Amino acid sequence: MLAKPTDNVLPIDGAAPRGAPGAMPARHIGAILVDEGKLTSADAEQVLARQRELGWRFGEAAIELNLITDADLRQALAKQYEFPYLVSGPDGVSKELIAAWDPFNQVVEELRGVRTQLLIRWYNPDAGRKTLAVCSPGPREGRSFIAANLAVVFSQLGSRTLVVDADFRAPRQQAIFNVPDRFGLSSLLSGRADLSAAVPVTGMTGLAVLPAGPLPPNPLELLSRPAFGGFLARAQAEYDVIILDTPPATEYADAQSITFRTGDALLVSRKDHTRVQDTERAVRELSDASGRIVGTLMNAF
Ligand SMILES: Nc1ncnc2c1ncn2[C@@H]1O[C@H](COP(=O)(O)OP(=O)(O)OP(=O)(O)O)[C@@H](O)[C@H]1O
Ligand SMILES: [Mg+2]
Repeated sequence: MLAKPTDNVLPIDGAAPRGAPGAMPARHIGAILVDEGKLTSADAEQVLARQRELGWRFGEAAIELNLITDADLRQALAKQYEFPYLVSGPDGVSKELIAAWDPFNQVVEELRGVRTQLLIRWYNPDAGRKTLAVCSPGPREGRSFIAANLAVVFSQLGSRTLVVDADFRAPRQQAIFNVPDRFGLSSLLSGRADLSAAVPVTGMTGLAVLPAGPLPPNPLELLSRPAFGGFLARAQAEYDVIILDTPPATEYADAQSITFRTGDALLVSRKDHTRVQDTERAVRELSDASGRIVGTLMNAF
């Protein structure tokens, strides 16, 4: 369970939320179900007749006739509203990627609330504010989980979203998204790859992940290179939202180097786990590195 970002965030710069869902659904739910092979044309006719008889919606009538399941209907609605998610369960991706395969879960509802807060309080591409580091003071506080799932919910708005694993200490995005990590951020920063090393996430339109890549012996030096700034500039030209996973902020200076480049950070703490003085220290250190804490998030799990 997540608590929403608190109000102790940076001033709102007056920008309207961007990236709101666009067009209204264009296709009839019955047409989608037929295209998906969930209904035959004859079934659809039968549903239409039942629908007229009962005055119900098409999907409800189809369920009543036992022609489709609840899950089929939700999937079709997701398609109708251009709201991508993985239907077949967490096959391939980790089951931690809950926003991708169980988007109606309570935790995901709360993450959508966090997304809304971020859209109102932080997101402003015209002012260059589209890149967010997910930081927390200590280990095992949920940074990787939040970064991955937040990226999914942003992509579900239709935003081209890139999640970058900038945690060279204990990288996990390759496992969460189940992508190869032969190339990744480390390859990019050492000039051995370009942005094409980012892997599109199958079934999740607009979402790509750049894994950490081979673990470098000198993470901090690599992250301090101007190449990191160059990479982010290129990523900003190609993506609407960029979310970076980071190592624990009070254990390594890496998070400072990362927020120095991103400018903005979401600060996660774990309920009944993170100590207040560690959070205060993280805030101080990230601020010293010119990082703006745009929101704080209490992760309870
Ligand atoms: N809100 C949540 N609900 C359920 N499980 C969660 C939640 N947040 C984190 N977890 C789980 O807790 C574990 C630790 O989370 P995660 O790896 O994201 O933490 P981290 O801060 O990135 O850790 P590390 O310091 O190792 O990088 C993972 O198994 C993750 O799936
Ligand atoms: Mg992590």
